[in-house]
Amino acid sequence: MDVKGRKVIVRVDFNVPLDDQFRVTDDTRIRGTIPTIQYLIGKGAKVILLSHFERPLKNLLPNGELDKVRFSLNHVVPTLSALVGKKVDFFPDTIGEKVFQKINDLQDGDVILLENTRFYAGEEKGDVEFSKRLASLGEIYVNDAFGAAHRAHASTSVIANYFDADHKAFGFLMQSELENAKQVMDHPKRPFIAILGGAKVSDKILLIESLLDKADKIIIGGGMAYTFIRAQGGNTGKSLVEEDKLDLANELLAKAGKLGKRIELPSDSIAAEKFAPDALFKNVPSHEIPDGWMGLDIGLTARFEYTNHLQGAGTILWNGPMGVFEMESFSHGTKAIAHAVADVTKSGTFSLIGGGDSVAAIQQVGLADSVSFISTGGGAMLELLEGKTLPGVAAITG
Ligand code: 3PG
Ligand code: MG
Repeated sequence: MDVKGRKVIVRVDFNVPLDDQFRVTDDTRIRGTIPTIQYLIGKGAKVILLSHFERPLKNLLPNGELDKVRFSLNHVVPTLSALVGKKVDFFPDTIGEKVFQKINDLQDGDVILLENTRFYAGEEKGDVEFSKRLASLGEIYVNDAFGAAHRAHASTSVIANYFDADHKAFGFLMQSELENAKQVMDHPKRPFIAILGGAKVSDKILLIESLLDKADKIIIGGGMAYTFIRAQGGNTGKSLVEEDKLDLANELLAKAGKLGKRIELPSDSIAAEKFAPDALFKNVPSHEIPDGWMGLDIGLTARFEYTNHLQGAGTILWNGPMGVFEMESFSHGTKAIAHAVADVTKSGTFSLIGGGDSVAAIQQVGLADSVSFISTGGGAMLELLEGKTLPGVAAITG
């Protein structure tokens, strides 16, 4: 695409975590968009960045107004400018006459970030009028917002209707996310082992079904393990169990059996007296969690067994922590998996980490550079791996 001198709208996902001083605490998503932004700068485009940030309309001030301080995208500008290697301009609105004036003043190679798209209700509604107004800001539309590609919102999806096929494209982050997910799901080097964690089975049903077809083995940890263990008749104490998903858990186990595949459950757990960082805890068999205790991490044997399962893997997909890793006492299962994934990656395993919490875990142990690919998508990666077509992708490919 010839972008020289053109106004190029780039939809990015700068929905990043901030501390209480509004400083970016994890710049992974911003970093991911830098190749696209620098490419466009290098080609002499006028770069107009659009992004959402959190959910301002669901978190209004007590007086019913938008919290334009807390939810402003201006907080990411210092980090963004540093990563781009030049000053990125910011404008405190997203559409309208003043935005046009500002954009018309851009020189070739300039970059401007506009205000949070979710300050307008039309964004999440995918409103046609709002989408048209966004589209009118530029001549070319680039979608590099993989993290928001599962949303059929104005700036992620509907906007693309107002550009013909020669004037819209994926950015490099989107391209690499899609290629890596495809690599794992369509051409995995075998054996393909999936590690799934997180609190609830209900969030992962479609993923497990999709993986029963594609993976050779599924390793389960985190809160969701206890729904399976209870379904098998185990004593789970006051562990998190989704009572209404017990039949489903048994069906998934039966389906795996029929396919000759294994769903591995943790043979032991770290059980705690309460859900607290300072709780008393002990290592117990996962099927024998005492009354009044709750499983908050995989146990010592499970750590050892899971690490062994990963040896010799051709492909590993990891989504979701093995325990309550934000509490030190219950973080060791997740850390052990992080180390094991990094180790086997060194010997040639292709490893993809997706989902906010497992990504945070691998970063916490300083191993982010030791895995093959870290996805910037939580929900988006999940839906892609489930085999769904993402609205942000379909918008470009038609
Ligand atoms: C995310 O963080 O998951 C994406 O930025 C999408 O945000 P949302 O879940 O608020 O739509
Ligand atoms: Mg989210």
